[in-house]
Amino acid sequence: MNTAATSVSAYPISRLRRLRMTGVLRAMVRETELSKKDFIYPLFVVPGGNVKREVSSMPGVYQMSVDNIVRECAEVHSLGIPAVIFFGIPEEKDEVGSGAYDDNGIVQRALRAVRNEVPGLLLITDVCLCEYTSHGHCGIVRGGEIVNDESVELLAREAVSHAAAGAGMVAPSDMFDGRVGAIRRALDENGFQNLPVMSYAAKYASGFYGPFREAAESTPKFGDRRSHQMDPANSDEALREVAQDIQEGADIVMVKPALPYLDVIYRVKERFGLPTAAYNVSGEYAMVKAAERAGWIDGERVMMEMLTGIRRAGADMILTYFAKEAAKALDRQQ
Ligand code: PBG
Repeated sequence: MNTAATSVSAYPISRLRRLRMTGVLRAMVRETELSKKDFIYPLFVVPGGNVKREVSSMPGVYQMSVDNIVRECAEVHSLGIPAVIFFGIPEEKDEVGSGAYDDNGIVQRALRAVRNEVPGLLLITDVCLCEYTSHGHCGIVRGGEIVNDESVELLAREAVSHAAAGAGMVAPSDMFDGRVGAIRRALDENGFQNLPVMSYAAKYASGFYGPFREAAESTPKFGDRRSHQMDPANSDEALREVAQDIQEGADIVMVKPALPYLDVIYRVKERFGLPTAAYNVSGEYAMVKAAERAGWIDGERVMMEMLTGIRRAGADMILTYFAKEAAKALDRQQ
């Protein structure tokens, strides 16, 4: 990051507009480059065959059955996007989220199919229970409380099951205490010492997840996620969350959402210097699409500006529903 901001002479010796006069000059002094290599594309896997259902609040985003997921992954890979992250919607949900750690579960089946058909693509899995529990919470609920340690054991089982089915990386998104360490130990005990963990390290209790919960069918039936996800008002606490995940073995740390938390991304990257991811979440995507449809903004321009801003703040990689569109836009700019 630039520390030379003050080494500038006074006007009129220095005129900062000089380097903005042509496209060539602007490109030469550009500090942040957006690249397809930085994108991770989220995908929602559902049961059945030949299913491709658009999520109404996320135009261009679909729930897809495994056969269509395979085709989609081939296209994503051919666009030059290196990685996808899978979310699964199971046939049946129950109190303990059994579908999450079923070796024949929906994500496990998608992993096996895509691993064979598109071997070069990095397959990341979201490790959480909320899509698999009948109550929509991220762990086991007892006496109205979302219990920590027992839920963490189930998350570790889920991570190992994903690894065995061919995941190239696991991403715990629950925000329970101690889950990164438990997952790391479980992976190591099962021979997956070299499988990286990308932790949703500073994940906020955010209104921007609304459209995702439609896509993943994971809206809590009662209560909310404020007893485990972070308070939007805090950023010192985000550094404690990240520090603890690193101690427990996180290889990549994530901040989520991205746009209202650019300061957090900046602090995390500055403080720890670890590979840092940002999740440009469903609500951020939906707002752009809605405003574009209304004719109020230039959607592509705003998309590229958002993604560039997230990179400029310090994110090395971005999980984004815009990945395919942005990859195509970058190709056109070449
Ligand atoms: C939980 C999970 C959520 C998202 C990713 N993983 C939702 C939540 O915490 O309620 C949100 C992603 C988005 O909004 O795009 N498994």
